[in-house]
Amino acid sequence: MTSSNEQQNLPWVEKYRPKSLDELISHETIIKTINKYIDENQLPHLLLYGPPGTGKTSTILACARKLYTPAQFNSMVLELNASDDRGIGIVRGQILSFASTGTMYRSAFKLIILDEADAMTNDAQNALRRIIEKYTDNVRFCIICNYLNKIIPALQSRCTRFRFLPLAAEQIMPRLNHVIEAENLKVTEDGKEALMTLSGGDMRKVISVLQSTWFAYGAVNKENVYNCVGHPLPADINNIVNWLLNESYDTCYTKIQKLKLDKGLALQDILTEIHSCIVKIDFPDPLFIDVLCKMADIEKRLASGCRDAIQVNSLISAFYKLRNIET
Ligand SMILES: Nc1ncnc2c1ncn2[C@@H]1O[C@H](COP(=O)(O)OP(=O)(O)OP(=O)(O)O)[C@@H](O)[C@H]1O
Ligand SMILES: [Mg+2]
Repeated sequence: MTSSNEQQNLPWVEKYRPKSLDELISHETIIKTINKYIDENQLPHLLLYGPPGTGKTSTILACARKLYTPAQFNSMVLELNASDDRGIGIVRGQILSFASTGTMYRSAFKLIILDEADAMTNDAQNALRRIIEKYTDNVRFCIICNYLNKIIPALQSRCTRFRFLPLAAEQIMPRLNHVIEAENLKVTEDGKEALMTLSGGDMRKVISVLQSTWFAYGAVNKENVYNCVGHPLPADINNIVNWLLNESYDTCYTKIQKLKLDKGLALQDILTEIHSCIVKIDFPDPLFIDVLCKMADIEKRLASGCRDAIQVNSLISAFYKLRNIET
């Protein structure tokens, strides 16, 4: 266990990592089911999957804490993540030897956590199939990944699957308030809203953006949160769309470039936000479809590493036909 002094230096995402299953927010059914398995000593092999920052690693670590005392922990739990070798070597070596050696504690099984298993090679996953079956008496596996399709079907069928959905805003809010209170921060309501919007249901992102905004600016409000992650503010996007539809070519280009430079914005983010903004405007279909296709082309070119400045020009020209349209 960490001392209180060490706790002070921890990044908040780790400091506020739920220690027990009760502390985890959302996923009630999953937690209830796993709790029941543990209480009845019937834990199956588990496969936890879902987007980042939703509590998969925290859930299995809390389970391990429930299953073993701190003294047992090191000898009973093997945790491997993406920072370890993910090839067949580790399956035949470390995993096999951990699984095949008995435990000091009668009637208890060991736990092997394969975190971030999307990165495991197919050979390694295939080699695991037999090990999982052969040593079920002795060990339980918990495979964790973001993308289920990266896990071979044979492994999926050996495990009980649990899907972790992105967290809803109303589930994040109480936990966020808890951190704010514990750290004694001043956060405005629109600051909290901005954290929710930008996180997209990722609790890790909520806490880490909160921490970096607090350290960088002192005050956590909407503007600081957006600036901290370098994401365009809704007001900036409204301005850009206005310029694209009304300003002369030169002025529009200068203004967008200046805004990008001043706020350190990426054209990709601007493009995504412009998209969500213009779909709400009622343009004539043929013209609107034309713009969408051109924006999709720009996005593709940006992804393949084309120059920003030229793509800004392209964006302005994409909007050219939409000028002077009565909506
Ligand atoms: N359900 C939750 N309840 C409370 N805190 C959470 C929850 N999910 C995530 N967090 C917070 O986010 C941090 C990261 O969570 P965790 O490591 O469990 O995510 P993960 O699902 O394993 O993500 P990844 O797929 O990126 O590994 C935790 O330290 C905790 O602070
Ligand atoms: Mg994880």
